[in-house]
Amino acid sequence: MTIDSADDLEGLRAIGRIVRAVFEAMRAAARPGMTTGELDAVGASVLAAHDARSAPILMYRFPGSTCISVNEEAAHGIPGARVLKPGDMINIDVSAEQGGYIADMGESFVLPPIEPARGRICRAVKRAVIEATARIRAGRSLNVIGATVSRAAEKGGYRIVENLASHGVGRSLHEEPSYVPMHNPRERRTLHDGQVLTIEPFFTTGEPFVTERDDGWTLAVAPGALVAQFEQTVIVTNGRPVVVT
Ligand code: CO
Ligand code: CO
Repeated sequence: MTIDSADDLEGLRAIGRIVRAVFEAMRAAARPGMTTGELDAVGASVLAAHDARSAPILMYRFPGSTCISVNEEAAHGIPGARVLKPGDMINIDVSAEQGGYIADMGESFVLPPIEPARGRICRAVKRAVIEATARIRAGRSLNVIGATVSRAAEKGGYRIVENLASHGVGRSLHEEPSYVPMHNPRERRTLHDGQVLTIEPFFTTGEPFVTERDDGWTLAVAPGALVAQFEQTVIVTNGRPVVVT
């Protein structure tokens, strides 16, 4: 969507604060011995307390309020009976709707004890998103996102998952541009004032793609490979972008 009123800005900021609060409550609650279903219930209760609705349920009938992906699972992990273990890398992706506005965010983090390689990939992907966010401006090529995160991945010795990408968001969970490719020098599209999109690369130590599991949802890299995501929803402006999550 494009923000074109003060109401739009406030509506998007409000749902941005809610998805952040849901994530923080879940991160604080995550501990070994807990199931991903129990962790999802924490998120569901925060959503309900804010009178917000899970976007994956609303838009895709996803079987959970949030997506919880563990270790080699990259995205769209279904909350359920899986028990969290010490050292697990967890990705929680929260997207929700309130008043017709949708925000989307996610982060990967590690339960102690933190294996250094796992901590490093989480920090690297977060840094790349912050760096790419700082460079987006109305009038610049959409490729500024892909170029920045690709350079950061290369520097860290990671590859970027090619079949998952940043996307437009705001009124629907996935909007145009529906797929922001990683570094494409021939990209013709430009960013515009008020444009709402996510920035969400996935860094991996394995092959640069995810495959869908038999459950029809979970997207995973090969066993043994690490994968980490950091996602935030941003509003493009003529100056510094506004991060709403
Ligand atoms: Co997301
Ligand atoms: Co997203």
